[in-house]
Amino acid sequence: MSLLPWLSAALLLALLAVLGVLLAVTWIESRQARQLEGLAPSVPAGATASRAAVVYFSRSGNTALAARHLAGRLNARLFALQAPDYRLGMPGLAHALKDANALKRTPGTLPEITPRTIDLTPFDTLYLGSPVWLYSPAPPIWAFVEHHRFDGQHVVLFNTFNSQFGEDHIAAFRAKVMARGARSFEHRQVLRGRMTHDAAAHPR
Ligand SMILES: Cc1cc2nc3c(=O)[nH]c(=O)nc-3n(C[C@H](O)[C@H](O)[C@H](O)COP(=O)(O)O)c2cc1C
Repeated sequence: MSLLPWLSAALLLALLAVLGVLLAVTWIESRQARQLEGLAPSVPAGATASRAAVVYFSRSGNTALAARHLAGRLNARLFALQAPDYRLGMPGLAHALKDANALKRTPGTLPEITPRTIDLTPFDTLYLGSPVWLYSPAPPIWAFVEHHRFDGQHVVLFNTFNSQFGEDHIAAFRAKVMARGARSFEHRQVLRGRMTHDAAAHPR
């Protein structure tokens, strides 16, 4: 008996399983983003008194929420980075996975971000926020570092993530920030738990 029909069926099942996971992740992320949008204390207008700034990228709202909290607490300027390639939905998710993977092999592969540059000279402390993608800070925050210098500044990377990140990627990020003039570097993290727990924790 030929194995071909069985192999084809197994391949089809595997493809359907991957598609199912991607669809589930997309659904959870979109729901999260809607729920988190309304949650955050926004930074009061004119919050420019402190010498700290919070710059972040967020795809589904979690890092944005942490960033808004932080900026509110520190009375800091808040800057959101947009990366249109990774907008919510299946194409954005596929793109995110592809680029996060490519970044590991080719560190120069960086996405377009908006704004591309920010005047950081008024600040002495910079908080850089990003989700973890494939164990590493997501490509947009690497792109941000690539386009800036941090001469004499204290840089704090804060990450939100579901379960795990790689210390080697944080060390590489630190090295890049320090090579671009930073005085010092810290890493902070917000462990959120599994996505499916999020979905259970916020029933509609
Ligand atoms: C493409 C992709 C890859 C991810 N990889 C990881 C990972 O390696 N480790 C982890 O703990 N979480 C991972 N996550 C989960 C996110 O880090 C987590 O949901 C984060 O809080 C999302 O932040 P955001 O809502 O600000 O986009 C990944 C999410 C995406 C979309």
